[in-house]
Amino acid sequence: MDNVVAPHPALREGRIGGLVLANRLAVSPMTRVSAEPDGTPTAEMADYYAEFAEGGFGLVLTEGTYTDAAYAQGYHNQPGIVTRRHVEAWREITGRVHAAGSVAVLQLMHAGALSQGNPHRSGTAGPSAVPPRGEMMPEYGGSGPWPLPAAMTRADIAEAVAGFVSSAENAREAGFDGVEVHGANGYLIDQFLTGYTNLRDDFYGGPVGNRVRLAAEVVGAIRAAVGPDFCVGIRLSQGKVNDHGHRWPGGAHDAEIIFAALAEAGATYIHIASEGRDWIETARLDGGVTITGLARRVTGLPVIANGGMHDSARAAQVLADGHADLLSVGRGALANPDLPRRLRAGVPLEEYDHRILDPMATLANARSRRRAATPLGARAGA
Ligand SMILES: Cc1cc2nc3c(=O)[nH]c(=O)nc-3n(C[C@H](O)[C@H](O)[C@H](O)COP(=O)(O)O)c2cc1C
Repeated sequence: MDNVVAPHPALREGRIGGLVLANRLAVSPMTRVSAEPDGTPTAEMADYYAEFAEGGFGLVLTEGTYTDAAYAQGYHNQPGIVTRRHVEAWREITGRVHAAGSVAVLQLMHAGALSQGNPHRSGTAGPSAVPPRGEMMPEYGGSGPWPLPAAMTRADIAEAVAGFVSSAENAREAGFDGVEVHGANGYLIDQFLTGYTNLRDDFYGGPVGNRVRLAAEVVGAIRAAVGPDFCVGIRLSQGKVNDHGHRWPGGAHDAEIIFAALAEAGATYIHIASEGRDWIETARLDGGVTITGLARRVTGLPVIANGGMHDSARAAQVLADGHADLLSVGRGALANPDLPRRLRAGVPLEEYDHRILDPMATLANARSRRRAATPLGARAGA
């Protein structure tokens, strides 16, 4: 008997702004600290990103990429989008992703106070001189307490915004279809959004309408520079790499103000990260509302949900119940760069193993997987 598999709803065509996606599955942004010391992406990184596109992901979001040669860089061996060398190397990657029929969006990241490796400046900078919670991340080469950041001056803020703008222009020149501003997980933009790291008494601090100002300024300034058609998304989260349990104190009220400001500034889409947690754990707001559903309702923009979306039943439910338009997959994509093809063919997924985070292991895996590639249909029948 023929093995007929009903298409999963995530395999339907998706759209963000003017971009048409082969399906609703995106690779979530994932830092891999595997660029050259000067931030130039490598040939192995091109193979790594191409593998997701060849595996059928409709949208490939890159790892967080630093935006200036001032305070933006977060880790050693993080890629940048600042120099001509960076642009030329990323161009190879966008070419490979496009050749496989996928859309490429670069995540623009300013680490702010959560920087643990920046050759450009000594010291770190954030909205206020507040010691970050937790400790530096060993998986990205850090150890011990975070340094105390300097409170950013208005000139520092202007420099950071200018870095986002020139990086977005560089990304477009490198062939990217869009950029995603990293406003999630505790980095600079999230530090401004968060009351306990932002103690400023100017118009960037105080009520949530002020704390979202930097995010909105960055989106607005990029939009003004790149014009109406280029995709400018933003990623937000309640939890942070150094404070997983954080939730927006004003719940849905804060969320509405934040989402409205970003839509007004010209964002193309909203992406809600679920840092290290399942979607529903971080998405639920009071009164049965989800943060992603609320973002859709307030902005009318496409919304990407994240957190355990490699679970196909959960993924189907989130789409069917109207909580999101697209889904991003992190750990499940590392373990299964061909996840969309597997979903289509009904092939079970490989389990995620954290040892894959060793950059050399991932790249070696990618190469050996390619060598051992067996047509998925054949495997499904085995
Ligand atoms: C190795 C690794 C690196 C990550 N780096 C980033 C990053 O650069 N930018 C970002 O927004 N999120 C980053 N994340 C978070 C993921 O994008 C995603 O939100 C998280 O893994 C939850 O999704 P999942 O359940 O599908 O794994 C990273 C996660 C992992 C596992």
